[in-house]
Formats: sequence, C-alpha cells, structure tokens
Amino acid sequence: VDFSNFRSQTDEIITLDPGYKNTGSCKSEITYLDGEKGVLMYRGYSIEQLAEKSSFVEVMYLLLKGELPTATELQKFKDDINEYNFVSEDIAKILAAFPSSAHPMGVLSSLTSALTAFNPKAVNAKSEEEMYRAAVTLIGKFAVLASWTLRKVKGLPLNYSDSKLDYVENFYQLMFKNPNKDLQMDPIVIDALDKLLILHADHEQNCSTSTVRLVGSAHTGLFASISAGVSALWGPLHGGANQEVVEMLEKIKEDGGDVQKWVDKAKDKNDDFRLMGFGHRVYKNFDPRARIIKKAADQILEKLGIQDEALEIAKKLELAALEDEYFVSRKLYPNVDFYSGIIYKALGIPTEMFTVMFAVGRLPGWIAQWIEMRQNNEPIGRPRQIYTGAPKRDYIDIENR
Ligand code: ACO
Repeated sequence: VDFSNFRSQTDEIITLDPGYKNTGSCKSEITYLDGEKGVLMYRGYSIEQLAEKSSFVEVMYLLLKGELPTATELQKFKDDINEYNFVSEDIAKILAAFPSSAHPMGVLSSLTSALTAFNPKAVNAKSEEEMYRAAVTLIGKFAVLASWTLRKVKGLPLNYSDSKLDYVENFYQLMFKNPNKDLQMDPIVIDALDKLLILHADHEQNCSTSTVRLVGSAHTGLFASISAGVSALWGPLHGGANQEVVEMLEKIKEDGGDVQKWVDKAKDKNDDFRLMGFGHRVYKNFDPRARIIKKAADQILEKLGIQDEALEIAKKLELAALEDEYFVSRKLYPNVDFYSGIIYKALGIPTEMFTVMFAVGRLPGWIAQWIEMRQNNEPIGRPRQIYTGAPKRDYIDIENR
C-alpha cells in the first residue's frame, strides 16, 4: 500500500473513507442490520414481527427504552406524549410567514429548530428523566408541526390535537380534518399508516441519523439536532427518494409506460438519471422493508378499491431491472422508498408530503440514537481529511494579481 495518499498535513496516517462506506462511527444497541441477509431488527425484534403485531407508539417506546412496554407503561407513555401535543401560537405565526410554495421539509426543519426557543428546559436535557421529557415533548409536537406543513401547502386552517385519539389517529386528523365536516377514519388507512411509520422508525447509522448524532456530539440540544436530521433526510438520495419515485412513475406513465427505456436510461453513464427507489448502501440482497411495503401496497389498493397504474408500472419496472445484468451485478434492488409513495398516494397524502411522513416515522429512531450517543459520553464527532490544495505561498497584493 502506498501510504502517501493517507497522510495528513502533519504526516499522521489517516483512514480515508469517503461516504464512510466501511467506517463505524459508534457502538449501538438500538438497531441490527444485515445487508447480505436482508435482516432488520429493532432492539432484537424482527421488523416483520413488529410490522405485523406491534403499533407505532409501542415501537417508539421500544426504541427509546430498549424494552417492549407493559400495558401500564404504554398508557403512561401515551399520556406523557399527550401532555405536549400542542404547539405555541407564535410558531403558527412563523409558519404563516413562509410562502405556501415552500417545501414542507424545509418548513419542518425550520419549525423543529424554532421549538428550541419555546422549550428552553429541553435544550439542556442531561439526566435520563430530562432526556425522556425532551423526547416526549418533541414526539408530541412533531406530529402537529408535520401536519401543519401540509395544511400550509393546501392553504387550509390549522388543526389541533385530540388527546382522546391514538398517536397515529391524532396525526391523521391533524392532517385531514376540515371545518364543518366529520372526518371518517378508515381502520384500513390508519393501520397502513401505522405500519409505514413502524417500518421507517430506525435504520442505524444512515445519513440523517449520523447527522443527528454528529450535531448532538457537540452537545447541541435535541431539537436542533433533529432539525439537522430532517434536512439530511430531505435529500433525494435519502428520504427525498419517496417523492422522486412517484414523480418518476408518473413520468414513465405519461411517456407511454415503456419501462425498458427507463431502465436503459438509468444504465447510461452519460445520463444523470438513476432509478429512484433502487439501490442501498447496506442492503445488497433485498430490503426487508420493501418486501413488507410491496405486499401492503397490493392489499391496501385492493381494500380501498383503487386501481393505480403507477403500481403496475412500479412492478414492471422492478421486474425489468431485476432481470438486467447492470442492476444484478451491482446488487441494486428496490428499497423502502420504492413502494411507500404508492401507499401514501392511495391514502390521500400529497406527493410533497411523502418525505415528511418518513420524518414522522424516523423521529423515535433519531431521538433514541441521540440519547444513546449522549449517555455513552461519545466524543465530539470530528472527521479528519487529506489536504490536496495549494502548497504554502505568499499573499499577493490586489494590484499585483
Ligand atoms: N440507478 C442506476 N444506477 C445506480 C443506482 C440507481 N438507482 N444506484 C446505484 N447505481 C449504480 C451507480 O451508478 C454505481 O455504478 P458504477 O459502479 O458503474 O459506478 C453503482 O451502482 C454503485 O452506486 P453508488 O452510488 O456508489 O452506491 P452508494 O452506496 O453510494 O449509494 C444510493 C446508495 C444513494 C441509495 C444509490 O443506490 C442511489 O442513488 N439510489 C437512488 C436513490 C434512492 O433510492 N435513495 C433511497 C435510499 S434508501 C433511504 O435512504 C431510505
């Protein structure tokens, strides 16, 4: 090995690993992921069992506390969240100042950071109890903020929490309840939403979670750290892919539905286009969440009696890609985002809200990871670099340049 490429300015040997493809940043007890076997577990419980048997609120508790709750513990957790399920009217004023064309993820990130100013106690949370309080405060308020970003886009009046409802039902009514009209809550829809949120709840050291841990490692408060995580998730190579997938499927539909043409386009190295919802940094066989979601998409569309051409195109596209040497040799399979957008669409959630839905699901994972990082007393995150710029040179006065 020629180590000259691995030497810092001061001649120390440095590991150079762009994108951290093979660098562990921490030890964690929260989520286990085996990319070769397609295994995902939260706190030792398989994602398949949790998606089938658990609820999003229970999974939030599991991620935060490490164990499944008893009935009493679960009720207390729900009560604790409900204590904080409102947002200051001053935050509503900040929201009002955004243009309605603002992307909901930008608005969500800004408002999450703004919460810091209104909840000073949570900012300095250090003890276990203080961190738990900060966590339930944010979980309570985040659903309200997320729903408000939708109401803003749609130009509709803001809704307020109903503590009689379960977390997911409340989130649903926050998004969809309209004045002078009863809201019908279809159990199929609520179940589907609950399942999607469970599937997104944590995914070890992905881009947004690493961001949350890195920002928090400077002892930045929980809300500001999560706000940074929301911004990271927004990117089209990460959570933003779910919006891009549905937009891509619509384009393919309008273009006549020739999936092979789009597969070929994705293979063309002179074309920036990638098949959105395909490929994953860790999963190199299949993404277990994609399997569950694909099945759920079929069931939900059937139960709701919706025929969506986008789902048919998605299935054809998946088949075409999986038979293609380019995708096979690079181990590129559909990821969680490939089918989730189709379900969100069927549930009446507008495209620009898809990544916000992902953020609501990922919130407990981000919080659990932030707390773990603080409790482990992890040092400030500070990667090194290999300097490749100009050597030392003398400053030239402007008239002589
Ligand atoms: N379409 C076409 N080619 C692809 C795709 C794709 N979706 N994904 C990867 N490739 C190709 C790359 O061009 C590269 O080819 P090369 O070896 O000829 O240069 C090879 O596969 C490896 O890809 P990398 O970008 O190096 O893989 P990396 O692990 O860095 O990226 C990522 C993973 C970002 C998910 C990538 O597969 C991608 O951009 N996918 C599309 C966006 C997407 O769906 N993101 C959601 C990810 S899941 C999540 O965040 C929830």
